[in-house]
Amino acid sequence: MDWGLKNRIARIISPADNKALMLAVDHGYFLGPTEKLEDLEKTITPLAKYCDSLMITRGALRTSVNPNYPLPVVLRVSGGTSIIGEDLSQEDITVSIKDAIRLNATALAMSVFVGSKHEYQTIVNLGKLVSEAEEYGIPVLAVTAVGKEIGTKDARYLSLACRIAAEQGAHIVKTYYCENFEKVVKSCPVPIIIAGGKKIPEKDALKLTYDALKAGAVGVDMGRNIWQSDNPVAMIKAVHSIVHGSNNAEQAFTMYKQLSQKPNQKPNNNKPNQKPNNNKPNQKPNNNKPNQKPNNNKPNQKPNNNKPNQKPNNNKPNQ
Ligand code: 5RP
Repeated sequence: MDWGLKNRIARIISPADNKALMLAVDHGYFLGPTEKLEDLEKTITPLAKYCDSLMITRGALRTSVNPNYPLPVVLRVSGGTSIIGEDLSQEDITVSIKDAIRLNATALAMSVFVGSKHEYQTIVNLGKLVSEAEEYGIPVLAVTAVGKEIGTKDARYLSLACRIAAEQGAHIVKTYYCENFEKVVKSCPVPIIIAGGKKIPEKDALKLTYDALKAGAVGVDMGRNIWQSDNPVAMIKAVHSIVHGSNNAEQAFTMYKQLSQKPNQKPNNNKPNQKPNNNKPNQKPNNNKPNQKPNNNKPNQKPNNNKPNQKPNNNKPNQ
């Protein structure tokens, strides 16, 4: 694999633990001003320091994210439909590779709608996007979109969709968690990341995160279950403690509850100032200073403290 491609993937999936915490805020591309994402900047700013990368659209990035903030961007480049339209599957590529490069995208993301009326168009678009993006060493994340049927797809369908996306050359596949998720992971030769899906109770979202990682997902690209939480910062820290830490779902939920307590409520006996990234000793702590001076030498690069030749994903021989 090309050095640039490897390097960009390493900004999304940390080589330190082969895990990824992506914050998804791209929903407006077909949902409009989704609840709690009406003011993009207000939602993103307090959460940005706890994720490894941001999944976002071109328009949201330009208007609502400080360019001095060194966070890798996974740029959504597909669209063309809306939640009130007839068919969500009729997506096309809406952003040129030149614009993605101008925006310093670390990776590109698009949806494929396997089994839908427009599967041909979206699958061919994926193949073409991979060919174009690889010319510039840019990885592509394929989202196995399920239209309005989230929650109704099983391991058989998701294995099919993920495998098709990988066979078209997607470098990372994002899909939904389901029962027998091991089956989906085992039959997909590239890393799998799960979406959170519709808002569910925090306890359940943390269990979903834990179960997905246990089944072999490399991480989450979570949106609504973080920023629609009553306590988004507490929630992303709890998710982080599973993805990059050693917490199980119960421990992460306890952490969420403790972090959610108001300062004038019961004192929090358990490390109130605990750092979110305590499992990444060498990772820059990103002190939540969106306006902080950019590091001119290393624009978006997280310190890659691992061996330069280390494979980002040792479990995926076919990558
Ligand atoms: C929409 C997307 C979203 O990024 C994805 O659904 C993740 O967000 P959530 O955790 O809210 O489901 O790709 O197609």
